[in-house]
Amino acid sequence: MRRSLALALFLSFFSCYLIISTPSLASSDEFLQCLRREIPSRLVYAQGSSNFNEVLASSIRNPKFFTNTTVRPLCIVTPAGASHVQAAVGCGRRWAVGLRVRSGGHDYEGLSYRSVRPMDFAVVDLAALRAVFVNHSDSTAWVDSGATIGELYYSIAKSSPETAFPAGVCPTMGVGGHFSGGGMGLMMRKHGLSVDNVVDAKLVNRDGAVLGRASMGEDLFWAVRGGGGSFGVVLSWKVRLVRVPPKVAVFNVARMVGQNATGILARWQDVAPALPGELTVRVLVQGRQRALFQALYLGTCKSLVATMGREFPELGMTGADCRPMTWLQSVGFAISGNADTPVEALLNRSTGALSSSSFVKNKSDYVRRAIPKAVWEDIFSRWFNKNIGSGGGRDGDGLMILGPHGGFMSTVPAAATPYPHRDGVLYNIQYIVSWRQQHAGDDGAAAMTWLGSLYDFMGQHVSKEPREAYVNYRDLDIGENSESVMGNANGVGGFDAGKAWGERYFMGNYRRLAQVKAAVDPTDYFRNEQSIPPLFQPRN
Ligand SMILES: Cc1cc2nc3c(=O)[nH]c(=O)nc-3n(C[C@H](O)[C@H](O)[C@H](O)COP(=O)(O)OP(=O)(O)OC[C@H]3O[C@@H](n4cnc5c(N)ncnc54)[C@H](O)[C@@H]3O)c2cc1C
Ligand SMILES: *[C@@H]1O[C@H](CO)[C@@H](O)[C@H](O)[C@H]1NC(C)=O
Ligand SMILES: *[C@@H]1O[C@H](CO)[C@@H](O)[C@H](O)[C@H]1NC(C)=O
Ligand SMILES: *[C@@H]1O[C@H](CO)[C@@H](O)[C@H](O)[C@H]1NC(C)=O
Ligand SMILES: *[C@@H]1O[C@H](CO)[C@@H](O)[C@H](O)[C@H]1NC(C)=O
Ligand SMILES: *[C@@H]1O[C@H](CO)[C@@H](O)[C@H](O)[C@H]1NC(C)=O
Repeated sequence: MRRSLALALFLSFFSCYLIISTPSLASSDEFLQCLRREIPSRLVYAQGSSNFNEVLASSIRNPKFFTNTTVRPLCIVTPAGASHVQAAVGCGRRWAVGLRVRSGGHDYEGLSYRSVRPMDFAVVDLAALRAVFVNHSDSTAWVDSGATIGELYYSIAKSSPETAFPAGVCPTMGVGGHFSGGGMGLMMRKHGLSVDNVVDAKLVNRDGAVLGRASMGEDLFWAVRGGGGSFGVVLSWKVRLVRVPPKVAVFNVARMVGQNATGILARWQDVAPALPGELTVRVLVQGRQRALFQALYLGTCKSLVATMGREFPELGMTGADCRPMTWLQSVGFAISGNADTPVEALLNRSTGALSSSSFVKNKSDYVRRAIPKAVWEDIFSRWFNKNIGSGGGRDGDGLMILGPHGGFMSTVPAAATPYPHRDGVLYNIQYIVSWRQQHAGDDGAAAMTWLGSLYDFMGQHVSKEPREAYVNYRDLDIGENSESVMGNANGVGGFDAGKAWGERYFMGNYRRLAQVKAAVDPTDYFRNEQSIPPLFQPRN
């Protein structure tokens, strides 16, 4: 370990020297020429080329990050193979142009395709690298980063209906970003996060080499499974598939505050994390004083009704609420609430026209001690009983999603992967606010005030020191790498400042991530506003 750190330090000075001695003027032109020598020109979209905006917008979800003030890339590279990714890294380092890696483009702060501050960078958009190979003989699959979760689910279930994979709910998100941050979903209480089921990966490192698990070593392999994605470009992932019954059971049960939603919700906090792993009941806290209980059960309706009657009679769920369906159908049901959604819809990569999308801002928390019923009454009456007052004036502009932990999640040591929110967590909260722009320049002030006041209020009731947050629900409000780190070709040195957000996302794992970063990317080439800063210190 000592030796490799010393080597990393040496290399870091060596390559800083190279970068500093590179003439920076006109390096963006040189960079483009370099790309065009190595990559077919139809795969490189420079600013000003006719399709540039269309390709840039192709997987942007949030119109907030596609305005006339958004800092855009110099160009977008759309690799058709590993060698194009290697070339992009090679040209980028040679001409000191940074890269942003985009798989599904769902990053909540748009960090996969925009920069907060002006700088030269290119986007490597992996959308065309999206193959899924299922191997039944050992129940594994290789999936490329550019595949969507919907494509992964579909390929797995179509090749054998009783196999599945634990990952998140939204089918259009990319495998690359989703796995890079962990991957929470409705089967995690039984099977863990996505990254708990990743057994190998292929990554292009800063030197442009393609590494597998054996050649990258266990430290780097640990870091890419949830460390937030700043260690290299992960091309593909080998995952272990899980078994599901031929039919699973789902329900959506809504309760109004007038129907004791707060009492039931207060009880849910103790019940849901302790339920059998086969059963996940999450809650959507919605406008008009409504709580929606959504469940996925890996078993029959009969057994689900019995389990609910025994463990959670307060909800009053009955056989009439239960729908049996295949696991693949349950994925569509979780989005649409409609069991008749054709499963082929999971293959639709489009998220709809950006011009008609809402603006969105999300934040996250973790709860380790149940929140009293009286506090829930407060939350409903102060934040969920009226319109937010901003765009559209619709109810439902504000939402909280409560995702229970426990089960398998509690059995995984906090240091096993970068995702540290394990034993002792009752549930995760995601706060979501959306608004429609009423006029150009409308920055959603009322929506942001609503979200900010709710988040401040919740501070006293959620995990503290640190106030934990989920890296896949990325939030630049909690901190970002400083300008001196970001604006500098040698951006090294932000470890202490990075604790502000790094310890909230990764807790005790932040330090190890920073040490791995120092060993594998000492000059911090793969950096963004919330990338892991390198830490050059022996591990103790
Ligand atoms: C509608 C919606 C629903 C969601 N539901 C869930 C959910 O149920 N559970 C959950 O856990 N999360 C959920 N998320 C969050 C989601 O997991 C993250 O936004 C995730 O980062 C998206 O991955 P992506 O590939 O689409 O994003 P991108 O924007 O492409 O990438 C996200 C980050 O990862 C980096 N990155 C991307 N690909 C690679 C790669 N191949 N190698 C290295 N770094 C890479 C990017 O540079 C960026 O920093 C949801 C998001 C949305 C928008
Ligand atoms: C916030 O979360 C919701 C629901 O998961 C999602 O639709 C939305 O895209 C997220 N916000 C951002 C900024 O991406
Ligand atoms: C599938 O897995 C088996 C068992 O591990 C292995 O022998 C075989 O090579 C794999 N097939 C492919 C195509 O990788
Ligand atoms: C509301 O639910 C709680 C928890 O289940 C229960 O203790 C309480 O008696 C219920 N109150 C009413 C009015 O039904
Ligand atoms: C794909 O999804 C988009 C956005 O939801 C929708 O507008 C479009 O009609 C869908 N396409 C197909 C073929 O279903
Ligand atoms: C950017 O857009 C805003 C709102 O649409 C507009 O007011 C402004 O003039 C535009 N600025 C430039 C430089 O085009």
